[in-house]
Amino acid sequence: MIILGVESSCDETALALVQDGETVLSSKIASQVAKHAVFGGVVPEVAAREHLKALPLLWQELWSESDLNPSHIDAIAVTRGPGLIGAVLIGVAFARGAALRLSKPLIPVDHVHAHLQGALLSIPKSVIQNDLFPSLALVVSGGHTHLYKMNSRTSTELVGQSIDDACGECFDKVGKILGLPFPGGPWIEKIAKHGNRSRFPMPKVLDDKSKVQFSYSGLKTHALNHWRKLQNEGLADDQAKSDVASSFQEEALGQIVRKLQQARKLYPETRSVIVAGGVSANNRFRELVQLEIDLPVYFPELRYCGDNAAMIAALGYYEYLVSDPSKFAAKANWDAYSRYGMGGPL
Ligand code: KG4
Ligand code: ZN
Repeated sequence: MIILGVESSCDETALALVQDGETVLSSKIASQVAKHAVFGGVVPEVAAREHLKALPLLWQELWSESDLNPSHIDAIAVTRGPGLIGAVLIGVAFARGAALRLSKPLIPVDHVHAHLQGALLSIPKSVIQNDLFPSLALVVSGGHTHLYKMNSRTSTELVGQSIDDACGECFDKVGKILGLPFPGGPWIEKIAKHGNRSRFPMPKVLDDKSKVQFSYSGLKTHALNHWRKLQNEGLADDQAKSDVASSFQEEALGQIVRKLQQARKLYPETRSVIVAGGVSANNRFRELVQLEIDLPVYFPELRYCGDNAAMIAALGYYEYLVSDPSKFAAKANWDAYSRYGMGGPL
């Protein structure tokens, strides 16, 4: 079964063709990062307009580089949220139009859960079938810091989440404080490589006795105050910037590792750890989780860490398999709209 995936929840527009939930036939991503960088963050209205421009171009690119044509699609999966409402609606309208035109089912999927499928795309099938579940599965992105107990491909229980900022959002805000380009996450990782991670120890916001949850706003404020103090003292040189980045990164990621260790004790039956979402591209993160967790750890290939449509198509396939197909009839399916109180025909 070939599923077309459509992703437009934030600042990447993406289309992909995935066969049977595991073979990526094509994956196209148009990043808007340069458009938002001038504003120092994602501007929702700009994002929606850019999706509108990019989707038809990606559609043409998708088919011009493939032996397939739209009649080969069996169903269309689209991000229904969470995300920027205007941006999500552009993708939903596009997917819905394609589903109606091609008379194919339309499968709305959850973006955060789809990130987990992005990680599964990089794990051998035999491991998924025999050794993976139950798994402690993290989505660490610009919008979410969620820890799940994943019992199967389509069964997840939320164990804990951030009570304020998301981890990636915090990386981006601290990047801005340090005067780094947007998005700050990859830049912090880059300059942290030359930094001393012990020079400016950051506060440990949540201790091991607190619930399995995450918090980043205190860490962000500490980094801000610390950098301002260094600036006021005339000590904010390039080395100090790298040292702040490195010390911040260590605690931002260290918090997640400690909470994973806590969850590991609460769920001794878990057999693996999966880490997904944009921040899972961070090499220090990969190193820390592998060092500190006594389970096999799986990360997505870099192309499936950030937002992409292959993960959307993969989740769409598995949701289709476990649901009544009539639920996804394109004409009847207003779900993705009614979620925002926008039910009814276009
Ligand atoms: O998953 P994603 O592409 O979009 C959301 O669903 O949010 O994640 C984007 C986030 C951004 O906050 C970005 O700064 C962060 O992932 N990120 C990183 C790295 N690469 C991307 N954070 C830390 N280190 C990285 N190497
Ligand atoms: Zn995402």
